Amino acid sequence: MKKINCAVIGCGRIGCGFDDNQNKKILTHAGSYFFNKKTNLVALCDIDTKKLKKYGKKYQINGLYTESSKMFESEKIDCISICTLADSHLDLVKEAINYNVKGIFVEKPISTNLKDAQTIIDLCQQNQVKLAVDFQRRFDPFYHGIKKYISQNKLGLIQLVQVYYGGGIANTGTHLFDLLRYLFGEIKSVRANYSVNKSANTNDPNIDVTLDFFDSMICQIHSLDYRNYVLFEMDILGSNGRLKINLVENKYIFESVKKGENVAGYNTLHKNYLNFSISKKSSIFLAIDDVINCLGKKKIPMCTGVDGYRSLELVIACHLSSQKKNKVLLPIKNLEYNISSK
Ligand SMILES: NC(=O)c1ccc[n+]([C@@H]2O[C@H](COP(=O)([O-])OP(=O)(O)OC[C@H]3O[C@@H](n4cnc5c(N)ncnc54)[C@H](O)[C@@H]3O)[C@@H](O)[C@H]2O)c1
Repeated sequence: MKKINCAVIGCGRIGCGFDDNQNKKILTHAGSYFFNKKTNLVALCDIDTKKLKKYGKKYQINGLYTESSKMFESEKIDCISICTLADSHLDLVKEAINYNVKGIFVEKPISTNLKDAQTIIDLCQQNQVKLAVDFQRRFDPFYHGIKKYISQNKLGLIQLVQVYYGGGIANTGTHLFDLLRYLFGEIKSVRANYSVNKSANTNDPNIDVTLDFFDSMICQIHSLDYRNYVLFEMDILGSNGRLKINLVENKYIFESVKKGENVAGYNTLHKNYLNFSISKKSSIFLAIDDVINCLGKKKIPMCTGVDGYRSLELVIACHLSSQKKNKVLLPIKNLEYNISSK
C-alpha cells in the first residue's frame, strides 16, 4: 500500500516538543506520523530554524522549511498538521488547499473568531478536504466507553455535572467544551463570570461557567489557579451513581447506589467497578490514525471542523456573558469577536 505523505507546520510543543526527553506514549503530531505505518513524515516547517534542525535530525527529514509556501511548492503533501497558534490557521488552511492537500488536522482552537472558523470549514468542504480538529479525547476509547455508558442510561438521569479546570478558558476550556458536547449533547445557554482564581496567562482568563443543556441538564464549571496544582476533573452525578473522571490521566472512580443502607433509610453511594478500556496508544496517535483513515473515503473524522467551531463559540459566549453579566443564548450572532491566540 502506498504510504501517505504528511508534514507538520509549527514544530513547537504539540508539533514536536512534547516528545523530548520521554520514551513513553507519543505526544506529538510529528511523532504520530513518524511511527504510523501508513504515513511518511516528509517535511517540517517552522519559522524557528533551531527547531527545524533539531527535529529534522531526530526524524531524519531533509524537507525542512521556514516558509510554508516553499514547503508546499517543493513537496507532494497529502495530509498536513497545522500546529501553530490559532491566528495563523486560516491563512495556512487556504495555502494547503491551494496545493491540493487531502487532509488537514488543525490544532485547537480552530481559529480566534467564528467568521474565520466558518471560512475554514466552508473552504475544506468546497474542496473536499477532510478537516479534523485536535480535541484528543474524542479519539480515545476510554471516552468512547464513558459516552456509551451514559447514552445507555446506565448512570440514570444526570442530576448535575461539576467540573474543575484551570489554565484558561481557551486553552483548557475548549477541550472541556468539546468533551461536554461529545458526552451530553448540545448546549442551550451560558452564564459566566471571570474567576477570582486567575489563569497564569492574562490573555486567556479563567472563567466560572454554568451551562444549560437542551435536555435541561446543568453543568457547573469551577476555575482553579494551575500555579497551585493542576486539576482537570469531571464529576457526573446520575440518579444511579456517580462517575468522577480525572481528565488528565484518564482514570475514574465509580460509585453506585445501594438501597436503604443509611440509618434513616436513604440510599447511599458505594465504590464499585466499571471496565472502560484504556488504549496502549496515545490519543494523538489515535487521532492522526483516524484522520489518515478518512482520506479518500466517505468516513468523517471523529472530531470535525464543526466541533471546533462549537467549542470556540462556547469560549466566546463565556467572554460575552462575563462582560455583559447576563445569560448568553446559543448560537451566538457575534462572529467577529476575537479571542487572543497566545
Ligand atoms: N490538543 C492539545 O492537547 C494541545 C496541546 C498543546 C497545544 N495545543 C495547541 O497547539 C497550538 C500550538 O501550541 P504550542 O504549545 O505547540 O505552541 P508553540 O509556541 O510551542 O509552537 C508553535 C510553533 O509554531 C511556529 N510558528 C508560528 N508561526 C508559524 C508559521 N507561520 N509558519 C511556521 N511555523 C510557525 C513557532 O515558531 C513555534 O515553534 C496552540 O493553538 C495550542 O492551543 C493543543
